[in-house]
Amino acid sequence: MTTESTNIDALLREERTYPPPPDFAREANAQPDIYRRDPDEFWETEGRERVTWFTPFEQLKQWDPPYAKWYLGGKLNVCYNCVDRHVEAGNGDKIAYHWEGEPADTRRDISYADLQREVTRFANTLRKLGVQRGTPVAIYLGMIPQLPIAMLACTRIGAPHTVVFGGFSAESLAARMNDMKCQILITQDEALRRGRPVSLKSISDEAMAAASGVETCVVVRRTGTEVAMTDGRDVFYDEAAADQSDDPASCPCEPMDAEDLLFLMYTSGTTATPKGIVHTTGGYLVGTSTTHHYIFDIKPDTVYWCAADIGWITGHSYIVYGPLCNGVTSVLYEGTPDFPDKDRWWDIVQRYGVTVLYTAPTAIRSHMKWGPEYAQRHDLSTLRVLGTVGEPINPEAWIWYRDHIGGGRIPVVDTWWQTETGQILITPLPGVTTLKPGSATKPFPGVEAAVYDEQGNEVGPGGGGYLVLTAPYPAMLRGIFNDPQRYQETYWSKYPGGVYFVGDGARIDDDGDFWLLGRVDDVMNVSGHRISTIEVESALVDHQDVAEAAVCGRADAQTGQAIVAYVSLKGGQEGTPDKLAELRDHVGRKIGKIAAPANIVFTPDLPKTRSGKIMRRLLRDVAENRSLGDTTTLADPDVVNEIKDRATAEAAKEE
Ligand code: PRX
Repeated sequence: MTTESTNIDALLREERTYPPPPDFAREANAQPDIYRRDPDEFWETEGRERVTWFTPFEQLKQWDPPYAKWYLGGKLNVCYNCVDRHVEAGNGDKIAYHWEGEPADTRRDISYADLQREVTRFANTLRKLGVQRGTPVAIYLGMIPQLPIAMLACTRIGAPHTVVFGGFSAESLAARMNDMKCQILITQDEALRRGRPVSLKSISDEAMAAASGVETCVVVRRTGTEVAMTDGRDVFYDEAAADQSDDPASCPCEPMDAEDLLFLMYTSGTTATPKGIVHTTGGYLVGTSTTHHYIFDIKPDTVYWCAADIGWITGHSYIVYGPLCNGVTSVLYEGTPDFPDKDRWWDIVQRYGVTVLYTAPTAIRSHMKWGPEYAQRHDLSTLRVLGTVGEPINPEAWIWYRDHIGGGRIPVVDTWWQTETGQILITPLPGVTTLKPGSATKPFPGVEAAVYDEQGNEVGPGGGGYLVLTAPYPAMLRGIFNDPQRYQETYWSKYPGGVYFVGDGARIDDDGDFWLLGRVDDVMNVSGHRISTIEVESALVDHQDVAEAAVCGRADAQTGQAIVAYVSLKGGQEGTPDKLAELRDHVGRKIGKIAAPANIVFTPDLPKTRSGKIMRRLLRDVAENRSLGDTTTLADPDVVNEIKDRATAEAAKEE
């Protein structure tokens, strides 16, 4: 845990504070009294105000640990709340998305009325293809308008979806589709990545070969390139939709129960199989729209940009459902920050007059590395709130973001949450909170968090331990799909009494502010994305030449953590540069490029305890170049020295 202790030391020295700018504070959506509101009153009032219910809820919540229900008896439709009601209120001409394709000349402004027509046509097309209320739909699309349109179309007709990030492999896509028993897959011909096409359709074909339950594949044309189509299974969206009505009356929004399944989002845990996190309808929509409203201080003229990918929870909650429910104008960008040049983001901010920007620390560190001159080429004075999410932000990156992007004048909100929580839980409120670089500050109103020690005693100010959530909140997960036992074990078994175990270390300072310290389990966080060590190890040992593998994260200035793998090959083979490339590709194909190890150290043996357990702590120490701690329980202490020598030789080669 040396990285964490270095981290704690650095954070302990961090004493800079930034009170909210007075003009901002005066006009802010959240005022200081928001923290005095009773949690039940808060969620009851917000539940009524943010969302339009077809049938009002009768009961705020039911908490039967570890299962929560919210807004019981309420009927609503997510698409109605995100689209139709804004058109009915006379805001049909308001822009929902400024879509910007990766090629700089591809742009489209989509109004709420346009969105309503397109979603209706998509929903009618899905119906024609056999999708009904309750039919599970897989979506494997890049950041094109049809991604939110397809999601909303599903919610319009009551079909739950799972969106799979476009960077995941065929195998990952297939595993998700099989787990959810998806009957239909929506994909596109090709996505664009730094000017290069990526054939999502051929990855989908490979995935469908391993997911026989998928009977229909809808292909959206993005680049128009020719792709192989399987008769009787594959249809182009434009052809299937040609005879479908876009009149909203032709496809009314299905009234859903507050607790009906809205979507599954798969995320890595501490085993080789990702878990399908269950999110339901009413609480999720209230949780995301309420947090979005207060944390980003949304006003009628806000131009909001969350620069994440919709394939992750951040995009679901804060590109699609929260912002659309609040009727906001957003930017939706298809590409990378450095294409065609490193000022692409700042060009977008200037052109659309973006007022709120929400991104990940890893992206900020990339911009830092490239230098502030790219931002300086553009007028960023419309910005009034900056946000971060996904991993702990180091104070230097926080200050750089505030100074070089925010002109040293606007609040930076460091928002902590997870796929499981669905909504932001620990965060500053920009008009209320005195900010501290590196601290996510306080639980959001109506949220209760604490830090516990190993025994379950609450650790007071100044102390460190495990972050826990001690009360339910509307958008919380309702379970792991088809796996109640794993749900219980992962989150609810460490502490009794309905206390949710987060898996993050944290400390609380003397002002009661929370400082997040990273994962405490075998989960790595690379560029704000969760990857399980076991998942990568399984992918490695799946290769025919690999006898054993152990994986750990090491600190990385750019990506937060980087993946290091220790591999011993079968039959005493020695590792070669070719083998290294082959193994990286293999992991990329099994899981997705994001999981390919940054370093692989080939070693004849892995360090094991006498009972045969691999000593990950030692491997982490080697990966981070630290002096090794206690090795007395090792079966063969020489193994560690051997590994150390090999790791040092690898590092020297790279330099
Ligand atoms: O370790 C925490 C880290 O990301 C984990 C959740 O990952 P995921 O479910 O992929 O969702 C990421 C986007 C919501 C957490 O357990 N994390 C997320 N936000 C922060 C963070 N760590 C520190 N500070 C944050 N603001």
